[in-house]
Amino acid sequence: MNTLANEPLAINGGSPAVDEPMPPLKRWGKEELARLTEMVDQDSLFYWNGPQTTAMLAEFRKLYPFEHCAPCSSGTAALHMAVSALNLKPGDEIISTPITDMGTFTGILVQQCVPVFADLKPHTYNLDSASIEEKITSKTKAIIAVHLAGNPADMDAIMAIAKKYNLYVIEDCAQAWGAKYKGTNVGLIGDVACYSLNDFKHISCGDGGMVCSNNPDIGPNLQMWGDKHYDRKTGTRAPTQLGMNYRMSEPLSAVAAAQLPKMESICKARTRLGTRLSETIKDLPGIHIPEVNDEDTSTYWFYLLRLDFSILSCSQDEFAEALKAEGVPANSGYLPMAVYRYPVFQDHNFFGGTWPVKDLGLTDMDYTKVNCPVAEKILKTCIFISIKESMTDSYIEKIAAAITKVAHHYAK
Ligand SMILES: Cc1ncc(COP(=O)(O)O)c(C=O)c1O
Repeated sequence: MNTLANEPLAINGGSPAVDEPMPPLKRWGKEELARLTEMVDQDSLFYWNGPQTTAMLAEFRKLYPFEHCAPCSSGTAALHMAVSALNLKPGDEIISTPITDMGTFTGILVQQCVPVFADLKPHTYNLDSASIEEKITSKTKAIIAVHLAGNPADMDAIMAIAKKYNLYVIEDCAQAWGAKYKGTNVGLIGDVACYSLNDFKHISCGDGGMVCSNNPDIGPNLQMWGDKHYDRKTGTRAPTQLGMNYRMSEPLSAVAAAQLPKMESICKARTRLGTRLSETIKDLPGIHIPEVNDEDTSTYWFYLLRLDFSILSCSQDEFAEALKAEGVPANSGYLPMAVYRYPVFQDHNFFGGTWPVKDLGLTDMDYTKVNCPVAEKILKTCIFISIKESMTDSYIEKIAAAITKVAHHYAK
């Protein structure tokens, strides 16, 4: 591979290092079709005790042995149900990360609680426990730990803080199917776990989610938060709380039931590919690989490396453009900005141009003043590389060769 290091870049007319198309990925097949075919003979597509949902829950529990599992319509719905189940008050605060999907925060805001942003570790891209601790106030009630890109967050440190300050921990596992923290599947460590089955995740039923808990105070009623707070177990329609309709219907469950048994092999392939890429590029000038704790397993929902501009004489965009010209499925950056910089946060425009908890004096949060310098720096220096389980070892070696070429070219 190093023989390529001094060859001209493809962007300057050289030959691309990745000289083949991305190996095609077929995500759905006969297993999904069989379940859907079985489903059309049912007389109901309702989720409660539905055969597809029952089968899907059984498959899910083989991987994630939670006592209480509530299927729902998305990861965002799962997170909203999780926050709702904590029974918090308007103005209560929940700490999370500025590099995540908006869905991590939607439920917090709808429940009239206040998202608080803590900063990140520079190379795991996950919450820094020291920063979490700095953000704790008398109103803090929970932490949402996001396992970004399939890399487990520092759960021992997060759980220790939660214990010290009596906080709940919600694990946002949307990007982390199959990821393991010290050998345990992520989600099984905190109080509530949320998963996403949207189209872009390791496994997918188009859109879908799961919220789970082993906590006896939270788990038994989880499902009601996504089903208008109807009690399906007793058949009672007398809601005692305000719940959404976030139900997962039988067609979604049918596809999810067929996807779940494939999860471990998909994740194993991604772990192998991401690890191999890191091993190959780790000593390149100006490149920082994503850091994965030795005892953990990352399942690389995507691969995010960082550039060191004290060593490289190019911009983030120039590096990404050079990689693309080499045939690498790469992008400059990940999110366009830290989540607190989204206009909805900057304008406090959560409910028709207002933010009731602020207007009522229940928070003095001002998102225009929030700054998480490490997260900002990650976003300004990172390069996003797609990982797909269909990639072969030789394809990932070609990606590594392309990164090698580009890094050596721009190294000062
Ligand atoms: C970390 C994280 N949390 C939550 C979500 C929301 O999931 P969904 O798109 O299924 O609502 C996503 C989806 O991209 C995510 O990546």
